[in-house]
Amino acid sequence: MAQLWGGRFTKATDKLVYEFNASIGFDQRFFKEDLQGSRAHVRMLAKQGILTEVERDEILAGLDGIEADVEAGKLEITSEYEDIHSFVEANLIDRIGDAGKKLHTGRSRNDQVALDMRLYTRSQVLYTESQINHLLHTILHIMEENTETIMPGFTHLQKAQPITLAHHLGAYFEMFRRDELRLQDIYNRMNYCPLGSGALAGTTYPLDRDYTAELLDFYGPTENSMDGVSDRDYLIEYLSALSTIMMHLSRFSEEVIIWNSNEYRFVEIDDAYSTGSSIMPQKKNPDIAELVRGKTGRVYGALMSLLTTMKGIPLAYNKDMQEDKEMAFDAMDTTNGCIQLFDGMLETMEFNKDNMEASAKNGFTNATDAADYLVNHGVPFRDAHSIIGQVVLYCIDRGIAIDDMTLEELQAISPVFEEDIYEAISMDTCVNKRLTIGAPGKEAMEQAIENYKEYLAE
Ligand code: ARG
Repeated sequence: MAQLWGGRFTKATDKLVYEFNASIGFDQRFFKEDLQGSRAHVRMLAKQGILTEVERDEILAGLDGIEADVEAGKLEITSEYEDIHSFVEANLIDRIGDAGKKLHTGRSRNDQVALDMRLYTRSQVLYTESQINHLLHTILHIMEENTETIMPGFTHLQKAQPITLAHHLGAYFEMFRRDELRLQDIYNRMNYCPLGSGALAGTTYPLDRDYTAELLDFYGPTENSMDGVSDRDYLIEYLSALSTIMMHLSRFSEEVIIWNSNEYRFVEIDDAYSTGSSIMPQKKNPDIAELVRGKTGRVYGALMSLLTTMKGIPLAYNKDMQEDKEMAFDAMDTTNGCIQLFDGMLETMEFNKDNMEASAKNGFTNATDAADYLVNHGVPFRDAHSIIGQVVLYCIDRGIAIDDMTLEELQAISPVFEEDIYEAISMDTCVNKRLTIGAPGKEAMEQAIENYKEYLAE
């Protein structure tokens, strides 16, 4: 057991206590960030004359050596150390002796871990953003090819009005664009450096916090040392953004599962992204979409867990905060993995355009337009609604679509119908006359696609 704080104690820590307390099993994930933070700290200490340049160089060389040995597998990060900070410091002292003991001057593990977690999260925020950006490109590509692919739009999972596949996917473009912008907001708000906060009250050494912040690519130092060590808002915001991304992916997955079902057959998931059944030879299951939908829960769980951990913590650092890591790491891995897999599934998925269009035609999705036709010929909307209700009932009894009725049949229900009704309720008219901003008409969609291209080009 290598601990940094033995001096005050007369007895060894109980083994179970040691294990309960240790975080090395999971905080080794930010080994690199810990080194990065220590390098910046030691450069600043030397610049301020707190360490000599010789000591600085010895420490930097020692840190490089530790990094190289860990990467080469010559040095193992083991549970012999309480946490990653102790691992680095103990190995540094082993390697370079007394100079190593000066690394922690003017620093506490409280601001050290606050920094490491923030550095790690910051790079994850950027990584998630790049994945979302790739997904947006995939979606936009499918949209460009499908401004004329007619499909039913649903409400209550009942066919409602015809739309296009471009229009449907455009809704997801909007969702994931908001997700991307949310990540950028989080980055901007979190990008301040807590190092130099000390244990909670800063330090008496003349630290240059602006300089360390600059070395670590932060906008500047955090402005209150109590908050600096105990703020995890940025992580809560990130987990909340991940939860929202998962919610969007889960809704999209649910649609893919429905579209892939035998009843719909709107899409064909690529073999590389489907799985079979051990007993039923005919099955090709949408497991990836189901898993994405299923994994949403654990990401929400991480958010709830951290919110709950933080809610009762008095200022400043308390050990409870060590619990900010495991579930958050899991949520990051889960979400990043889900975005990547979903993106790959979407990129390789085939859309059965004929089935989509046939489905739109067979579900009275043009009933609203038929009513609008009557309104345009002077019938009050409420009466038109009721007339078309009778038309639909007539069709249901005979298993036909409104378009299949003869003009005589239509006129028997309302004399207002003329030959031009067929044109007025064709799928093409229903979709392409809808040209207001955000509507599915081809020209409106093309404008949206232009805007999305501009957004992605920025
Ligand atoms: N493993 C600890 C954590 O993750 C590091 C900070 C420990 N600080 C302390 N005062 N015990 O929060």
